[in-house]
Amino acid sequence: MSFYPIVRPRRNRANESIRRLVRETKLSVDDLIYPMFVVHGQDIANEITSMPGCFQYSVDRLVKAVNEVKKLGIPGVILFGIPEYKDSVGTEAYDDDGIIQQAVRAIKGTISDIMVITDVCLCEYTDHGHCGIIESGDVVNDATLDLLVKESISHARSGADMIAPSDMMDGRIGAIRNGLDQEGFENIPIMAYSAKYASAFYGPFRDAAESTPQFGDRRSYQMDPANSDEAIREVELDIQEGADIVMVKPALSYLDVISHVKSEFQIPVAAYNVSGEYAMIKAAGQNGWIDENRVALEVLTSIKRAGADIILTYFAKSAVEWIEG
Ligand code: PBG
Repeated sequence: MSFYPIVRPRRNRANESIRRLVRETKLSVDDLIYPMFVVHGQDIANEITSMPGCFQYSVDRLVKAVNEVKKLGIPGVILFGIPEYKDSVGTEAYDDDGIIQQAVRAIKGTISDIMVITDVCLCEYTDHGHCGIIESGDVVNDATLDLLVKESISHARSGADMIAPSDMMDGRIGAIRNGLDQEGFENIPIMAYSAKYASAFYGPFRDAAESTPQFGDRRSYQMDPANSDEAIREVELDIQEGADIVMVKPALSYLDVISHVKSEFQIPVAAYNVSGEYAMIKAAGQNGWIDENRVALEVLTSIKRAGADIILTYFAKSAVEWIEG
């Protein structure tokens, strides 16, 4: 007699009801943060060519757009600012009347119950496009820290609910934590871009935020894509320095790093499904080469399955519709 299997894994896949019962990973609206871009001006909504469906909004339009995000039940947005002027030290980044500060005040003045997170970095505000002060062709660490602290305090003063430093300077979490605490902002959490790689997947974002480096690249401060032990050391340092949430970025090519961080530390882990990851799916979807919705949901599920508790994604609004539909 021929052999027939006793154990049949297919039994648990027979229909959607049983698949629902045994499903291990469930993506939820509670997991999502929606990144948004804000520019000076009035009544502006510029669609970003390489990120279809994403816009640079003026403050008035941003407030309306954030209200839509809130209505979908998404718990948070992260804001990126495009300044009016750029200079060598990114002055608008820590100006209390800068674009982010205006945007945060406008949102907090009209909308409640949504986390307004601000990205803290200098690359959008410097004329050279790097994430800090330049000396002899490279970003100097400690002088940059002072500016990041000023920027964080200014964001907190305008009403930001959470600060998210993305610059990758050494010691910035400790410096920012200390600066915030001294100004009475000890209850404002820090989401640290802890393991942020020098990735080619940020291309479309740099169009959106107008932050492409004018010379060289970011490899002397962002991590080498080949390294994962180093990610653990970076995360460990940020936790010691006071991070409340740690982040791995990008997400899709770093699922192993997300998984490693999640198993190593007992702290919320965020993953940033970055602009290039979004653009690839959008472009292939528009060409009819893949089913955009299914692929995006599969990717987001994989990021959660790898261990992310929080996902920053340009798909957040669509994802809510897919999850609920
Ligand atoms: C700023 C910053 C970047 C991103 C988030 N914060 C770009 C960069 O480091 O060049 C990228 C986000 C994305 O690609 O979606 N430092």
